[in-house]
Amino acid sequence: ESRLLKEWDKTFVWHPFTQMAEYVKHEPIVIERGEGCWLIDTDGKRYLDAVGSIWCNVHGHNVKELNEALIEQVNKIAHSTLLGLANVPSILLAKAVVELAPEGLNHVFYTDDGSTAMEAALKMAYQYWQLKGEKRRTKFIKLEEAYHGDTIGSVSIGGIELFHSMFKELMFETFKIPAPHPYRFNGTAEECRDYSLSKLEEILKERGEEVAAVVMEPLVQAAAGIIAHPEGFLKGVRELCDKYGTLLILDEVATGFGKTGKWFACQHEGVVPDIMAISKGLTAGYMPLAITLATDEVYGAFWGGDYGSGKTFFHGHTFTGNQLGCAVALRNIELFKEKGWPERLGPKIEYLWRRLREELADLKHVGDIRGRGFMVGIELVKDKRTKEGFSWRDDVGRRVSRRIIEKGVFTRPLGPVLVVMPPLAISEEEIDFMVKAYKEAIVEVLGG
Ligand code: LLP
Repeated sequence: ESRLLKEWDKTFVWHPFTQMAEYVKHEPIVIERGEGCWLIDTDGKRYLDAVGSIWCNVHGHNVKELNEALIEQVNKIAHSTLLGLANVPSILLAKAVVELAPEGLNHVFYTDDGSTAMEAALKMAYQYWQLKGEKRRTKFIKLEEAYHGDTIGSVSIGGIELFHSMFKELMFETFKIPAPHPYRFNGTAEECRDYSLSKLEEILKERGEEVAAVVMEPLVQAAAGIIAHPEGFLKGVRELCDKYGTLLILDEVATGFGKTGKWFACQHEGVVPDIMAISKGLTAGYMPLAITLATDEVYGAFWGGDYGSGKTFFHGHTFTGNQLGCAVALRNIELFKEKGWPERLGPKIEYLWRRLREELADLKHVGDIRGRGFMVGIELVKDKRTKEGFSWRDDVGRRVSRRIIEKGVFTRPLGPVLVVMPPLAISEEEIDFMVKAYKEAIVEVLGG
């Protein structure tokens, strides 16, 4: 049975972000069940989910309260459209999210996943300026190495060469500024921050009147390799957006819902964006659901006239506001509150970082351990002193990750960066188990 499933997987399933010719050479791991932070495959082998199922899982898998919320909802109705109709869980969730979000983000626009939340954000910002009569404001400023999803709009504001360069002809034009990446910057963290900010100001000074919005992931650029921005960068960006009168769009798809130790990463710097996208942890990783939040000012620009007046936001997906997604998201938020999260996560975050530093920092090929809260990147380098990296041919991230998986911990690297982004529910014992697997794998593959 298990063997057959593996065969059919190789034959019929085209996996995302996967070179299938390479994939079929290895035996697939077919997940059948989950239990807490563990994934269990069709052979009964257990894997600790060290990347929270691509960064979305929060309370673990197969959580009684979340399961019950879904069952209760499915016994009422699974889905009805939000186009022309309202539904109970989407109303309650919108209210709950507005109450959690940074003050002023009062309007909830539902979409289905991180990419579509960002698409909606871009179109919202673009149309906002059209409606305000500033018709030249059609361009976006992005960070190098940015990642906001895989649809064409979100690819346009992305900057990961490997993923995005193939689609150049399809993308709209953007301005870009260097991602502030202290490990790869020749100077202090403050200089690194100020350099990126000065590049942003240069563009705003010269072309500011064409800019609809600055778009970025706050504090941590996840897919870029867990780049952790220097303190004050986000605040600096907000100030420049205000100074030059442009909008700020924050992508909290990865950073939201406790991942950095606060509900949302922007709260670390007291920054409120004009538009904010959330997904992943919103449903505790249970269902695809996303939200694009907007301020009164943005929402207000769309207000008035009739359906065809040009003020309508013509965007909306079939499954937008899906009741199952909203119901489980509501229960997720209640669970956060019952557990006293994110406030009470502090000691666990400290434990995670202490254990990682104790066990990994001194290894010969660990160049940098960086991130924030439950978002950690471990960059493997050839030469620690000069920070010389491995070539892509060395394939170190994947070789080490494969070894980690053999040890019963599921992970997925970003180039030469090993990723640690476990469910917030991970226990100290599980952290120890995970750190041990990472350490052993690095030593076995690259030497200590
Ligand atoms: N924004 C951020 C900050 C994200 O990290 C993601 C997805 C999205 C938006 C898009 O959300 P989605 O449409 O997937 O729900 N491709 C890499 C990592 C992708 C991580 C997913 N992040 C890999 O191959 O591992």
